[in-house]
Amino acid sequence: MKEFPLPAGMSAETFLSDYWQKKPLLIKAAFPAFKTPLLPDEIAGMACEAGIESRLIIENSGIGRAANDDAAPWQLRHGSFDESLFSELPESHWTLLIQEVHQYVPLLAQLLESFRFIPNWRIDDMMVSYSPVGGSVGPHVDQYDVFLLQGLGRKRWQISTAEVNEADLIEGIDLQILAHFEAEQSWELEVGDMLYLPPGVTHHGVALEESLTYSIGFRAPVERDLITSFVDYLAEERLPTRHYRDPDLVLQQHPGEISAASLQHVRNIIKQMPVSDQDIARWFGQVVTASKSGDDAEPQRQPMSVDAFLSRFQQGEKLWRCELSRFACTAEGASMLLFVAGRIEPLAGATNAAVYQLCDQREHSAEAWGGLLRSNENGALLCRLYNDGHLYFENDQD
Ligand code: SIN
Ligand code: CO
Repeated sequence: MKEFPLPAGMSAETFLSDYWQKKPLLIKAAFPAFKTPLLPDEIAGMACEAGIESRLIIENSGIGRAANDDAAPWQLRHGSFDESLFSELPESHWTLLIQEVHQYVPLLAQLLESFRFIPNWRIDDMMVSYSPVGGSVGPHVDQYDVFLLQGLGRKRWQISTAEVNEADLIEGIDLQILAHFEAEQSWELEVGDMLYLPPGVTHHGVALEESLTYSIGFRAPVERDLITSFVDYLAEERLPTRHYRDPDLVLQQHPGEISAASLQHVRNIIKQMPVSDQDIARWFGQVVTASKSGDDAEPQRQPMSVDAFLSRFQQGEKLWRCELSRFACTAEGASMLLFVAGRIEPLAGATNAAVYQLCDQREHSAEAWGGLLRSNENGALLCRLYNDGHLYFENDQD
């Protein structure tokens, strides 16, 4: 089996240097003999569940309702939906979308392992779309990279690299759909084929038959949001709470003027903000591992002792990462910081190699941990993460 789902002979290095964030790439048979872990009925079931984010997009013009004066060309509805919806839907021209499917289906979480040539923290979400023939979400542009993996049926993808402005979008609907779209390139994707698109490329995927597509989307935070989030973090952690003072105030000719001296005071306050590289690393690791939905892993009702935990692990039961909990680490001097689910986990003597193992892998076996388990601190860390719900034994789910 090839290591990454890239075209034969293409290394991950070539993908990163020539395509990533630069240009589209069609990867035929990226996953040969791909078998979708989710079926249309299961997707419909998920759309009816509260707590699972789902959307329905109907192309009214596709089902002949554009002639009707009041019908908007596209319609967006948010789940959760009632089961009766599915008997009321037209035969064609709609798409059902479910977010974060990797959190509900372990086989899909495993599929994310195929994208290890991009750092974990950059991965945002795996979404699935289900469409009957003619279904699409309209020609649109996303601001993040995406891999579109065909899971069932065939879909025609058309793309354009032409620049898109606000004025090009259809007004009055909460969807960024282009009013006019001219394709530059077009491909027909079959099961197991995958299309990579960098941000800013307009794309339009239309189901040629009952079709299912997995979108592996990447995180591209808006810089303004990064800065405001960091300032909030700093405010919480250490920004001074002392008040503005000006014992050097002199009489002004214009009391209505904000003097140059006052502005200098304020500039000093802003410029002397106590920001260190360590703050940035600690804030960033916590932010990017925080759960997107706000849902957190559930701690074990009855915590296990380290001995009981290790004996279960060493008897061969595999541990899995709870997909609500994101893991990441970064070096801080000679030691490491471990971030789990938006918090810094105290390492209490656990080794750097154990931290890498935890962050690089979704699945853990005593065999793979091998010598790492000779350290009591590593075992204790694993046990704590298990008790806190960030890891689970594969048999816990039964
Ligand atoms: C689709 O699955 O048809 C839409 C996915 C996307 O455009 O990101
Ligand atoms: Co898209």
